Amino acid sequence: MIYNLAKKFMFNMDAEKAHDLALSSLKKTANSPFSCFYRQNVKSTPVEVMGLTFPNPVGLAAGLDKNGEAIDAFAAMGFGFVEVGTVTPRPQPGNDKPRLFRLEDAEAIINRMGFNNHGVDYLVKNLMAKKSNIIVGVNIGKNKDTPVENGKDDYLICMEKVYPYASYITVNISSPNTPDLRSLQFGELLDDLLLSLKEKQSELESKYIKYVPLALKIAPDLNDQEINQIAQSLINNKFDAVIATNTTLSRKGVEGLQHGNEAGGLSGKPLTDDSTLVVAKLSTALNGAIPIIGVGGISSGHDAMAKINAGASLVQIYSAFIYQGPELIADILEKYRSKY
Ligand SMILES: Cc1cc2nc3c(=O)[nH]c(=O)nc-3n(C[C@H](O)[C@H](O)[C@H](O)COP(=O)(O)O)c2cc1C
Repeated sequence: MIYNLAKKFMFNMDAEKAHDLALSSLKKTANSPFSCFYRQNVKSTPVEVMGLTFPNPVGLAAGLDKNGEAIDAFAAMGFGFVEVGTVTPRPQPGNDKPRLFRLEDAEAIINRMGFNNHGVDYLVKNLMAKKSNIIVGVNIGKNKDTPVENGKDDYLICMEKVYPYASYITVNISSPNTPDLRSLQFGELLDDLLLSLKEKQSELESKYIKYVPLALKIAPDLNDQEINQIAQSLINNKFDAVIATNTTLSRKGVEGLQHGNEAGGLSGKPLTDDSTLVVAKLSTALNGAIPIIGVGGISSGHDAMAKINAGASLVQIYSAFIYQGPELIADILEKYRSKY
C-alpha cells in the first residue's frame, strides 16, 4: 500500500519534519482526487455515546492534528471521529526542538511537544472551513505561561470559542509536558474546574440551543485512590465522558533503547496494558455512570477489543497509526464487527 512507501521515506526524516510534511500533504490533498491514496470505505458500525451517534468506534487521538488542518483527510480514511487540539487560548511555540522521538524497536513514541499550536481562533477558522460532517472533538488546554491556579480561565476561554463548532469538548489536564498541569487532576482543583466547566456548558447550551458533551482526559500514572477520586468527581459533576489515557512518564519497555531516556510522555505499545488497566479500574469505579473512551497503545483489533472489554465504548489511536497507517482503522473495525 502507498502508506508503506510514504513511511519508508518519512521514517528517514526527523520525526517532527515528517509529521509536518505528512499533515501539510493531507491538508493539500483532502477533497481532491489525490485523496484516493488514503481514502478507505469502511462499513458503518454505529455506536451511540454521549448522545452522539458515531459511525464507527475508532477515533484519531488528540495531538496529531493540533490545529484542525486535515480533518477532511482523516474523515476520508474512515475514522469514526477526530479529536483536534490540544488548543490553547493564545498561540504558543511549545518546547525547544528536538521534542519528538520515534522508538521503532518498541513501536513507541516519546514527545515533549508542550502544546505547540496556533491558538484557538486559528483552530476555529479550520473548524468552520471543514467540508466533511465527521464528529469532531476539540481538546482544550492552558497556555504554558498561565499560572496553574488561573488555568480554569484558559479552559473557559477555549470552551466558549469552540462550543458552536465542536461535537464534544475534551478537557486535557493530563499532558506531562506543561508544568504542573497534572495537578489539576486532584482534589479541590479538579472539583472546582469541573463545576465551572459544567456551569459554562449550561450557559452555552441556552445560548446556542445545542448541548456539547464534555469529556475529561486523564493520565495513566494514577494510583487506585486517585482513579476512584477522579471517578467520583466526574459523577458528582455529571461529566459526559472520560478519556483514558494520555502518555505515560514510565519508561517500562523502552529501557536501554535509543531515545528511551528522553524527557516527555511515552506512547505506543509499551503503554497498552497500563492504560487498559486504568480503563478497567475506572469502569469499576464509574459502574456505567459515564462512558469511557479508551486510548493508549492500541496497535491491533485485539488491543482495541481489550480496551472495549475493559469498559471502553469508543477507542482512539495515535502512535500505532503512525507505524501502520490507515489500514489499522479497517483492521480494528474488522475485529470489532466479528465480536458484535
Ligand atoms: C506526538 C504526540 C503529541 C500528543 N499531543 C497530545 C495533545 O496535544 N493533547 C492530548 O490530549 N494528547 C496528546 N497526545 C496523546 C495521545 O492523544 C494519546 O493519548 C497517547 O499518545 C496514547 O495513545 P497511543 O499510544 O495510541 O499513541 C499526544 C501524543 C503524541 C505521540
